[in-house]
Amino acid sequence: MWWTTCIIWVLCVSLSECRRLPEEKPQMHGEVQSPSYPQPYAPNLQEQWDLSVPEGYQINLTFTHLDIEASADCHNDSLTVLYDEKLLGKFCGHENSAEGHHPGNQPILSPGNRLTLIFQSDDSNPERQNLGFTAQYQAIDIDECSAQPAESSGPLCSQICLNTLGSYLCSCQHGYELRSDQRTCVLSCNGGTFSEPEGHLFSPGYPTPPPHAVSCQYVISVESGFMVSLNFSDNFHIESVDSEQGPDCLHHWLQITIADREPVKVCGGTSPGLVETNSNIVKLDYHTDDYGQSRGWSLDYNTHRVKCPLPGAVVNGRVTPILTEYLYRDYISVRCDVGYKLMTDGQEINSFSTMCQNTGQWHLPLPECHIIDCGEPEPLQNGGVTFLSGIENQYLSVVQYHCNEPFYSLLGGLTATFTCEADRRWRSNNEIVLHPTCIPVCGKPVEPLPHVQRIFGGYDAPENTIPWQVLLTVSGDRGGGMVIADRWILTAAHVLQQKGITATNATIEVYLGGIDVHLLLKSPMRASSVYIHPDYNNPNSIDYNHDIALIKLQDQLTFGPSVMPICLPAEDATYITNTAGVVSGFGQIDSGQGRLSTNTLKFVELPVVDQERCHTSMNEAKTRRSNVPDLTDNMFCAGRPEGGKDSCQGDSGGPFALWNGKQYWAGGIVSWGVGCGLKGVYGAYTKVTNYVGWINKTMHEN
Ligand code: ARG
Repeated sequence: MWWTTCIIWVLCVSLSECRRLPEEKPQMHGEVQSPSYPQPYAPNLQEQWDLSVPEGYQINLTFTHLDIEASADCHNDSLTVLYDEKLLGKFCGHENSAEGHHPGNQPILSPGNRLTLIFQSDDSNPERQNLGFTAQYQAIDIDECSAQPAESSGPLCSQICLNTLGSYLCSCQHGYELRSDQRTCVLSCNGGTFSEPEGHLFSPGYPTPPPHAVSCQYVISVESGFMVSLNFSDNFHIESVDSEQGPDCLHHWLQITIADREPVKVCGGTSPGLVETNSNIVKLDYHTDDYGQSRGWSLDYNTHRVKCPLPGAVVNGRVTPILTEYLYRDYISVRCDVGYKLMTDGQEINSFSTMCQNTGQWHLPLPECHIIDCGEPEPLQNGGVTFLSGIENQYLSVVQYHCNEPFYSLLGGLTATFTCEADRRWRSNNEIVLHPTCIPVCGKPVEPLPHVQRIFGGYDAPENTIPWQVLLTVSGDRGGGMVIADRWILTAAHVLQQKGITATNATIEVYLGGIDVHLLLKSPMRASSVYIHPDYNNPNSIDYNHDIALIKLQDQLTFGPSVMPICLPAEDATYITNTAGVVSGFGQIDSGQGRLSTNTLKFVELPVVDQERCHTSMNEAKTRRSNVPDLTDNMFCAGRPEGGKDSCQGDSGGPFALWNGKQYWAGGIVSWGVGCGLKGVYGAYTKVTNYVGWINKTMHEN
């Protein structure tokens, strides 16, 4: 900072007129001399020095030399020492002069931190050789503590005064503390903070009043969630001033302060008794002054937990534990009755518990118990489900499955009822039917066949009488087939494979569900794969052994009056000679003037022919014709010796259906013959009973 001063000084010099530098700090010591000392002083002088030292100090002035013209009362020349207006001395003469007033060796002490020196000389003795004076001064600390107290304000410090350089401090004896006025002392109370759940508090000296004013603060601060009760003892006395409104706690009081509430002052001679604060923090301020007498007070405090409201009941559920009251940190949990689930805010929860919080509120509201719902029962293909009891899909509701009769029946044959259980699953009431399944009914047309006959020499089949009948076209050539399952058509191998070449799926069209060829041709179904019997080998159309094949459909069939499977042969099924079977197809018919393609489904009833007899007839035919295939044990014959009724070209792959008293079953597949309806020969049919294993295996594996 030296340069700042420099600049100001330079400015001052250059401007020659400018303000004085700021007043210097009061000195702790210094020297004062008369003008031109140690040369004699001039006449007609008037000079003044205003000395000052810091606040809280006195000035001690010591003359090292004083030589001023002596005169009576120092009338001519003098050095006057003043403290403000007060004259401390007027000096002249020298140490040994008889006249005048010399200060001698005694220093002059100013009452305060200022001192004024005035030196003056007159012109009465121009020849004099007096040197004037020189004096040293230093600051001396004032001992405020030993100063006499002013009458009105009492002692500087009520107990202990400590002098310091330039000032003083008040202090208190042990057991007392300095008040905010920094002067007076009060009894210290060791109030402090009480955090234990129980405690005992009392005013200083209780029940004897303390000798001095007290100002005590006690804080009871316990964990939140607990509430403090104050229990004042009967011996209670705090000075009060009587007023019209009763005792007024004017000078002495105990103030009780609870958060968020107006502080309350208590006093008088009656104990407040039990005070429930409903708070975990209580402040007590005990105040008395130096006048009057209060014997004081004592109290025991204790704490109790915050109470939460009773939780109430849950419909279809249970709240545990059941208590008469619920306090801070108590837990309750809720469980629903069997068949009910816990819900809060529309959400299901696994378990529920809530705690009574320190605020006196449950941390979560009670949940609800809603009845369990099993959801929609699984739909049943080709069947349905109906409610037997209960509402919707709720707990204990019972549903029953049924199949679309008479085309499907329930696997296992029993009724299938399911109950909605507490685990939210539909459970079967029957140990056998765990999953209801509808299986197609086979071989039971809704319309009976009339008992009249002929394909080749046959009759028109009325609607829905042979619902398993299939019309196939393979590259435009007609063939027959029969429905045996909802994706499977049974036919003859030679319909699908000619000259050793198997037809591709794209060349095969499948028609079913009707008797009118024109109508049928409007809605073909597609094959997804074909399975020719692995042992079928007939490149030259001479070997019809194993003439059996399966077509798998792309789309699943739904059965009804017009489409129904024919049953596969039972394990013990047999071919009894002369038993009539129904042969049907869209193959060629006898017009009387040659063969014709039929426009409607035809059928004929033909008896099973004794195998030996058929062998004989075929062997005879071989003598007359070439290319007559061999009859094997995988074939049987059907027909009449007189001829006229037969299957023919275009019927191949179609059914020879046998009636077992309840259902039609697939006894044979139209395979081959020698001409059609000729006398003495029979039609040959694939013996399906020999292939049930292969059929089931193929369907199962694909
Ligand atoms: N193989 C002929 C067809 O492809 C079936 C012949 C049946 N003939 C008979 N006389 N039964 O349609």
